[in-house]
Amino acid sequence: MNQIKLAVIGFGRIGKIHAENILHMQGVELALVIDPILDEDSHLFDSKTIISKDIEALTTLREIDGVIICSPSIYHIDQIKTAANKIKNIFCEKPLALDLDEIASIQELSLKLNLNLHIGFNRRFDPDFQKLKNDTCNGVIGDIYQIIITSRDPLPPPINYIKDSGGLFLDMTIHDFDMIRYLTNAEVDEIYVKGKCMVDQNIGKTGDIDTAIINMKLTNGIIASIINSRKAVYGYDQRIEILGSKGSLQVGNQLLHGLNKGTKRGFSLGNPKHFFIDRYADSYELEMRNFIDSIKGKEVSYPSVRDAFKTLEAGIAANKSLTKNKPIQL
Ligand SMILES: NC(=O)c1ccc[n+]([C@@H]2O[C@H](COP(=O)([O-])OP(=O)(O)OC[C@H]3O[C@@H](n4cnc5c(N)ncnc54)[C@H](O)[C@@H]3O)[C@@H](O)[C@H]2O)c1
Repeated sequence: MNQIKLAVIGFGRIGKIHAENILHMQGVELALVIDPILDEDSHLFDSKTIISKDIEALTTLREIDGVIICSPSIYHIDQIKTAANKIKNIFCEKPLALDLDEIASIQELSLKLNLNLHIGFNRRFDPDFQKLKNDTCNGVIGDIYQIIITSRDPLPPPINYIKDSGGLFLDMTIHDFDMIRYLTNAEVDEIYVKGKCMVDQNIGKTGDIDTAIINMKLTNGIIASIINSRKAVYGYDQRIEILGSKGSLQVGNQLLHGLNKGTKRGFSLGNPKHFFIDRYADSYELEMRNFIDSIKGKEVSYPSVRDAFKTLEAGIAANKSLTKNKPIQL
């Protein structure tokens, strides 16, 4: 295959990460970037990259082999439908959509057009989480009893982002639902949530919360917990612990440095890495390589439309549990 030509839609926090990774890869070209706030005359990348404000550029301007959708979540579905008219290889950021019927319609379209549609659940590609998955599946800690995910952001995103995000459970916890499912090979069976707006009352005014504890029973009997907050002053708090009959497996925070300083006042370690951009840098590169490999025709495994559906189902049940203040059966 010749140089693979990719388009990125939405050049914000995550679009820039994917664009940067593509620019550093061999045999791949960042052919087009679409974002309504980018200046079409500016050459941000290299001479080959076309910049457009208009989604129609996707199907009119150049031959494109694959598209990476990084726009706000509310636009994903329509943009997939536009892209699918001409492009078979589509990578869409999470959440695929905020509505289960919309995901079902994309599933139908995907089967009809034989799309190669990947969802941006990047944490599956994190090397430490992959080791955790391998050890868990290989029985290193025996039968699994519990899984606990702590996932806290260092600071909330802008209010305008929050408004179109789908809310805490569909925007942020959705990654953690995916990790629970991925690591345990099970689905969420029952869910019970406690959540509040504690960090920023402006988030509350949009109808959202920023702090939650989510308890779950999984279809294979494992008990799971997710602990979320939009703000942790010490950095990006990303930890997973799995307890089994023969021991436990833990992935801790990646720290800014490895120095453990000891003085009369005690010992101190570096803070966790600042945010997703640095903590999950490897996973973003690996998921993009995986997508490109699939465009080249290689058999790869990847987060699918079904994963998007099951995680959204869990997120919707979490919202229901919060509103009704009771456990919800899925
Ligand atoms: N996988 C991850 O770790 C991860 C991390 C962050 C965000 N995301 C997801 O990526 C998406 C974007 O998030 P972000 O944090 O980059 O948001 P952002 O607000 O930083 O960037 C969004 C960009 O999309 C552009 N945009 C707005 N409307 C558009 C349209 N109709 N078509 C094309 N571009 C449009 C905006 O101008 C902006 O540049 C969201 O779905 C979010 O859930 C995933």
